Amino acid sequence: MKDEVVLVTGSMGCIGAWVLRHLVDQGSKFVATDLGDDPVRPRLLLSEDEIAGINWQKLDVTDTAAVNNTVEKFGVTHIIHLAGLQIPFCRANPPLGAAVNVVGTVNILEAARQNGVQGIAYASSLAALGPPELYPDLPVRDDVQTAPTNLYGVYKVANEETARIYWQDWQIGSIGIRPYNVFGVARDQGMTADIAKAILATAAGKPFHIRYGGDIALQHASDVALTFINSARAEYQGAVVCNLRNDVTDVQTFVSKLRDLNPQAEISCEEDNILPFPADLDDSGLRSILGDIPHTKLEAAIQQDFEQFSALIEAGKIDLNQLDN
Ligand SMILES: NC(=O)c1ccc[n+]([C@@H]2O[C@H](COP(=O)([O-])OP(=O)(O)OC[C@H]3O[C@@H](n4cnc5c(N)ncnc54)[C@H](O)[C@@H]3O)[C@@H](O)[C@H]2O)c1
Repeated sequence: MKDEVVLVTGSMGCIGAWVLRHLVDQGSKFVATDLGDDPVRPRLLLSEDEIAGINWQKLDVTDTAAVNNTVEKFGVTHIIHLAGLQIPFCRANPPLGAAVNVVGTVNILEAARQNGVQGIAYASSLAALGPPELYPDLPVRDDVQTAPTNLYGVYKVANEETARIYWQDWQIGSIGIRPYNVFGVARDQGMTADIAKAILATAAGKPFHIRYGGDIALQHASDVALTFINSARAEYQGAVVCNLRNDVTDVQTFVSKLRDLNPQAEISCEEDNILPFPADLDDSGLRSILGDIPHTKLEAAIQQDFEQFSALIEAGKIDLNQLDN
């Protein structure tokens, strides 16, 4: 790790903020990039001194030359590519969604090719798959047929296929990771952010309605971030796309755990609105590469989030307006 320089894109997002938390803890050398210039989410996880010590670079991943220049200028050896627009934003502006999610990923792979980057982990999504009934063989393997039901998922499939060709034609290796429902402090936008918001509401003593129910795979943001770091460092020789699993449960069970934490919490969920993705996911592909996969058990993860949110509320450091959906 001595000569390692990690480029993080989307570092002001939820997973990005947690990647920064871990890279700071590990004493790693890294460049934190984002389109934005106000690290609101990283501030939830890092002290002002830590924020001040980070090498921040404003970078729009749709800008081919800027991506290449950044990788070259800082001698980047590993990339964690998280920048992206989530489902509602892709639906609201499909051309922008394609520019950021598809062209942005091509730019990352191309910059890696031009500059001899050694390891890449990029964010795909479980939204690359179709509804659960398409996958009768459980748990669902990494290599099942993709069948996205929204543009965001289509863009993620394009990324997976682009990565495959970058390996085939130029031996640029990568691991694409397909998170399902990432939750934790700093998760505040996207269709599945309601799980994290429900924990925030429990800590704030406010009512909250999760807009979906049914089976779900829950992945703690801190664990997901570590998984991305470990995947980039694996310097995988090939182009692979991997499921994450961690806690497979149902939203009703999750809600009951919040009631255990704070019996006064008025948390509910929309039991009849089932998310159109399979939840029983096989993560043996990623295990075969990484060995262990970081996994904080659900109860412990909820407890950690509850305590962290409570401290942030107490300090007046978190915006509770996000609970208005
Ligand atoms: N959170 C989840 O549950 C989940 C599930 C599956 C996949 N993913 C994928 O993981 C990645 C990270 O997710 P997240 O929850 O941290 O997302 P997020 O929405 O919290 O953060 C995304 C970040 O990307 C940045 N960004 C947007 N456009 C950009 C551009 N043109 N150039 C550079 N940066 C830009 C935003 O400013 C933001 O900081 C995304 O690609 C997302 O699609 C997330």
